[in-house]
Amino acid sequence: MVFRRFWILMFIMAVFGSGFCVLEVWKAYESSFTKTIILSTSFPYAHTPFPSVTVCEASRVHNTIIKSLFQNASGRPGSYEEALFNMMTLLATIRLPLFGRFGQMKKWKAHFDELNKLNISDVLLQAVRPCDDIFDSPCWWRNRFYNCCELFELQKTCYGYCYSFNSDVSEYSRQKTLFYGMYGDNKDFWLDDKGLARPKRTGGYGPWSGLRFSMRAQKIAPYVDTNPGIVVMIRDPSALPTELGIRVSKGTSGYIRIWGDKVLPTRRLVRVKPEKRHCLYPDEKKYLGRGYLRSNCLFNCYERFMYHDCGCVPSFNYFLYKADFPYPECNLEGLVCLADHSTNLININDRDKNLSSDLRCQCPDDCHSQKYKSNIIVANETTSADQIVVDVFFQTSTCFLYETDIVFDFMNALGDVLNDIPA
Ligand SMILES: *[C@@H]1O[C@H](CO)[C@@H](O)[C@H](O)[C@H]1NC(C)=O
Ligand SMILES: *[C@@H]1O[C@H](CO)[C@@H](O)[C@H](O)[C@H]1NC(C)=O
Ligand SMILES: *[C@@H]1O[C@H](CO)[C@@H](O)[C@H](O)[C@H]1NC(C)=O
Ligand SMILES: *[C@@H]1O[C@H](CO)[C@@H](O)[C@H](O)[C@H]1NC(C)=O
Repeated sequence: MVFRRFWILMFIMAVFGSGFCVLEVWKAYESSFTKTIILSTSFPYAHTPFPSVTVCEASRVHNTIIKSLFQNASGRPGSYEEALFNMMTLLATIRLPLFGRFGQMKKWKAHFDELNKLNISDVLLQAVRPCDDIFDSPCWWRNRFYNCCELFELQKTCYGYCYSFNSDVSEYSRQKTLFYGMYGDNKDFWLDDKGLARPKRTGGYGPWSGLRFSMRAQKIAPYVDTNPGIVVMIRDPSALPTELGIRVSKGTSGYIRIWGDKVLPTRRLVRVKPEKRHCLYPDEKKYLGRGYLRSNCLFNCYERFMYHDCGCVPSFNYFLYKADFPYPECNLEGLVCLADHSTNLININDRDKNLSSDLRCQCPDDCHSQKYKSNIIVANETTSADQIVVDVFFQTSTCFLYETDIVFDFMNALGDVLNDIPA
């Protein structure tokens, strides 16, 4: 009898003891965090996409159109034509989210009814400088010359309509890449209409190993507030071009060197909750109908904030992906409203704190990522004062490959707790 009680007592203690143990292990597992280690110091860039290269002109409205608008408006102060001319000179140089200057349009309130009828995206699209007018010689990619307009595609950016090379989100390629890159890495390319694999890659490094092009800068009319030149943006091919970019002035050649490392997650990291690993996999969330990318998530934040403030989104910067929330396009008054609210858009992360949770900007890092850092060396090799030459290339043939892993998995955690129990 006494024996039996003793065994029951022992059994209960064992149950509690192991329960306590499991709880401790679980706590350790729950508090797990990630570590990053170097897998390789010479991972070839040939295995990773060449970045997209987006070229925006100083004035996004073609010089001939601005001139024609100016002539139509001249000698008719206060007319609709003058209002239209002013609207286009402002739109020619505006960059999102710094819309502030567009507030000047309030002077033409009398013509708002008529201007509101314009599809501003379409007006800007008609006013883009045609591709075959831009380049003055064939473009070089990797090892031979191409027709530039075969390499460059129309691209929406924070500057409006520009041209991009190797982008998965250009006006052409975004139709083809809606589900590209979403489901693991079994297929890391898509095929264009010629059957060629995109995004393009190169194993070479140094000048003339990547993209090289030469163009003529537009003359800038005195009433457009900018300096002749271009802005070049270097990005992950799947990311919308939204950063400031690198300026290249006319009469110069820019050598743009690219470097940056690659980070891969381990297989078991996917089992950890996103809040713990602080990163998302491409198939975990969609923005713009595409796999998760932090930069596109931030872009989506801007869309939501614009919609919150003004009830519309300018579609010459953004693509209005129908399966997401279908944001209405801004008309003139919508853009004036955005101009009034542009200071709210400058630091959307700070503004968050007091807003409802569905408007909060939560964009964790990418679990898989390839960094593309760049800098420019400017030289004077151009043959004329309005020529611009740009050469974009990898600085070396390899980068570092990092691997992110969890510090504790369940078995490690168990080992850890057992070690902690005092002997
Ligand atoms: C200027 O006015 C003419 C005649 O009204 C018109 O055909 C032309 O399209 C206008 N130019 C622009 C750029 O709107
Ligand atoms: C405005 O123009 C753009 C570009 O041409 C077009 O894609 C869009 O459907 C137009 N929007 C409306 C409301 O007509
Ligand atoms: C935050 O929201 C509360 C209630 O809506 C309001 O009283 C407060 O002034 C807001 N604070 C800021 C900084 O906007
Ligand atoms: C490049 O050209 C500019 C103006 O033409 C001149 O001021 C500058 O000294 C030149 N730089 C070099 C390195 O030749």
